[in-house]
Amino acid sequence: MSDILEIQGVFAGYGGGDILRGVNLNLEPGTITCIVGPNGAGKSTVMRVVSGVLHPRRGEVRFNGERIDHLSPRQILQAGIVQVPQNRSLFPGMTVEENVRLGAYTLRDRALVDRRLAEVSEQFPIVKERAKDKAGSLSGGQQKLVEFARSLMLDPKLVLLDEPSMGLEPRILGHVFGTMVEMSKAGRTILLVEQNARKGLESSDRGVVMESGRVLLDGPAQGVLSDERIGDLYLGGHVQQH
Ligand SMILES: Nc1ncnc2c1ncn2[C@@H]1O[C@H](COP(=O)(O)OP(=O)(O)OP(=O)(O)O)[C@@H](O)[C@H]1O
Ligand SMILES: [Mg+2]
Repeated sequence: MSDILEIQGVFAGYGGGDILRGVNLNLEPGTITCIVGPNGAGKSTVMRVVSGVLHPRRGEVRFNGERIDHLSPRQILQAGIVQVPQNRSLFPGMTVEENVRLGAYTLRDRALVDRRLAEVSEQFPIVKERAKDKAGSLSGGQQKLVEFARSLMLDPKLVLLDEPSMGLEPRILGHVFGTMVEMSKAGRTILLVEQNARKGLESSDRGVVMESGRVLLDGPAQGVLSDERIGDLYLGGHVQQH
């Protein structure tokens, strides 16, 4: 099967020089790829290039074979790529349902929005159970699940998850990553960035290790997990937490 996302020879930065220095990365449809690496390696920068917030200085990004590296974030969203940001992003004073509906803000077809809401409510019981509650009254893990639900309102083909475990209690992590696996089984392709490298890789098909704006290692997640170089660097006690 042909790759859904192709990042080829990408150089990108924020004005003062390149942060990404020749990144190559291909995603197969329906898989979960987890990027790990130390702080400042460029993981979130890869996400920004894919979501169109940052345009590469050199190189190409293709989605389903089409160049997307010069499109705006909104065009990329409409093409079927959605990002769940690193920090909490629900509006705490709005209800869970209102927040989820915001995920479809670009859609004019109200019947379609209602249908999508019904679909994500089936997949995410929390959306149904807490529909009328203020999002701010939910726990961090519950809010993350609602963010996942909101991200599916446009029926994206590729979902970018930047550190979904950040700030969550350990006991909820299994549920959050399990939900991510279900999203992928439903046919979505997922690009995940995780500081919690072991947990992230355990739930993923492929592992990518980045360092200093380059891909150091790329292969089956199990292989990356058992690679001794990686074990010492990123899976032991040295993984920096935010
Ligand atoms: N908006 C910005 N303007 C200038 N420099 C930035 C900006 N965002 C990130 N950088 C720099 O780019 C480098 C890579 O940052 P990036 O956020 O991609 O790292 P990361 O791998 O996601 O790290 P972390 O694990 O801390 O989230 C860092 O040196 C950072 O200081
Ligand atoms: Mg980051």
